[in-house]
Amino acid sequence: MPPGFTAKVGRLETFTLPERVSGSVSDKAIADAMIGAWRRDGILQIGMTKSQQRVYQAASATSRRFFAQPHARKEACVDGSSYSGYIASGEEITDGVADYSEIFTVTKDLPHTDKRVAQGWPCHGPCPWLDQEMKAVMNKYMEDLAVSGEKLLQLIEMGLDIPTGSLTKYTADGWHHMRVLRFPQNNRTNGKGKKGRGIGSHTDYGLLVIAAQDSVGGLFVRPPRDTERFSNWEKSSAGLRENEAGWVYVPPVTGTFTVFPGDMMQYMTNNFLQSTPHKVGLNVRERFAFAYFHEPNFRSVIRPLPGYNAGQSPLEGIHYGTHFTNMFLRNYPDRITTARLQEEGRYRLLESKELRDDDEPL
Ligand SMILES: [Fe+2]
Repeated sequence: MPPGFTAKVGRLETFTLPERVSGSVSDKAIADAMIGAWRRDGILQIGMTKSQQRVYQAASATSRRFFAQPHARKEACVDGSSYSGYIASGEEITDGVADYSEIFTVTKDLPHTDKRVAQGWPCHGPCPWLDQEMKAVMNKYMEDLAVSGEKLLQLIEMGLDIPTGSLTKYTADGWHHMRVLRFPQNNRTNGKGKKGRGIGSHTDYGLLVIAAQDSVGGLFVRPPRDTERFSNWEKSSAGLRENEAGWVYVPPVTGTFTVFPGDMMQYMTNNFLQSTPHKVGLNVRERFAFAYFHEPNFRSVIRPLPGYNAGQSPLEGIHYGTHFTNMFLRNYPDRITTARLQEEGRYRLLESKELRDDDEPL
């Protein structure tokens, strides 16, 4: 555990995803157990297959190679139309305090000739990769996790006893994205943030987070409690209970991913599956991690799931693209992408019909 933190050490339940989710009795048993684990611990582990281990190892090596580049080279990996690319240590703000994380964000990699980019859709644009090798390796990793993400959603549909497709109908051409992360050693920071803090407490925005970490350790989660409820889409949950007791340390386990629900899952299930608050502490060695986000289509208007609709607010649903854009505007107020979005008045495009897929629920 990172020095200076006191927390219970988590013992996470580990699952093996089926090759294909067929709706079998064993799938249902896994699905029910997963729901139980999230409601109890806020997080669970899934075992990597042999091929996933290889894909993960390649992505890890590429991450290390990227972050080892000279600062000027990394800093050049920025795009004015998307939020993809490099975020230096101290550039991201959580609850008003700079985070020490060094990040490469990957959002859907779309050329300027793509219709959506040409029309100025917020957050749409190219990913400024370091080179073609990085692009190939990271895309492979994300494609692999997209398959796991869909299986997880299918299992959640079974575990929640909701009709097939209630969740996966939102994820066709999903706005899946990823943060490739490096955390400096605790006594080798640039002094812009708070001692020992890697990322302040927060919840993630979408449906599911599939994370991976090296052997150093630094992740803490806050299991769900009836007495604590946050709706990040209404009021920022950043910084929440960061210094209070009740955090659980997630020890690194080789060959596993950790999975937890995000804000949209909490809204859709009316808090049955809550978005898990988490934070990162700095350790005595530098640390590398990945957070992959399995998300709805940017145009989706998310609505409560069948059987989980208790008139939760907002009644009109949540437009995922607007939610995503709001979260990035909040976290990166000084980024060129934010400045351009505002200067060019493109935020209002989010209201347009073309950017809203307003189907009624199943
Ligand atoms: Fe997060």
